[in-house]
Amino acid sequence: IEHRPLYGKHVLVTAGPTHEPIDPVRYLANRSSGKQGFAIAAAAAAAGAKVTLVAGPVNLRTPLGVERQDVESAEEMAKAVRTALPVDVAIMVAAVADWRPRDFKGDKIKKRGSAPPALILTENPDILASVAASPKRPELLIGFAAETNDVVENARKKRKSKGVDWIVANDVSGDVMGGNDNRIHLVREGKVEHWAEMTKQDVAMKLVTEIAERLTEDA
Ligand code: C5P
Repeated sequence: IEHRPLYGKHVLVTAGPTHEPIDPVRYLANRSSGKQGFAIAAAAAAAGAKVTLVAGPVNLRTPLGVERQDVESAEEMAKAVRTALPVDVAIMVAAVADWRPRDFKGDKIKKRGSAPPALILTENPDILASVAASPKRPELLIGFAAETNDVVENARKKRKSKGVDWIVANDVSGDVMGGNDNRIHLVREGKVEHWAEMTKQDVAMKLVTEIAERLTEDA
């Protein structure tokens, strides 16, 4: 048990970007490699948890012992997350597109020689906020926040407005995107921890350690 501190727990992780189709050959997306989310899923599984990983389009191998479900769009991700509940812990790492094209064109949009087509966007569901508001809200709900400035202050606000327990604030002003290292500030109620820059694997292991401690505190 000691070395499998999440044994008996069900952990949900979202990871990667979402792709929002414009037509059959084009999409809108956020930048996200999925590396941090996959590393967290791997670390949780290694700690003995049952892990459900809802992954947007990424080029990564499924970590050992992880049950993976691939999705494309935010709406598909929202549905997969709803289906996965209830869980003990949810860690929402995905870089979900805030908007999607309002109208999906079933046929490829042709170049017209003159003016480029206008894209009309509509808002995507906020998956994290809806999990926070759900009657099946997990005991521990963790959001990520990629910020380029005022990292901690923005994360504090986000923690409150989204109704989550912890925000893992990610300073993406450097070359974090797609890279192997990450710089984290863990924002909890009345408490902020600044972590040294470390690999995404080390961030994952440290976060899983914090989660295990928190779950035993409550037990
Ligand atoms: O508001 P913002 O997008 O910065 O919040 C980031 C957090 O919210 C991340 O945990 C991300 O996975 C989650 N999120 C979500 N659904 C959205 C937008 C963000 O789950 N539509």
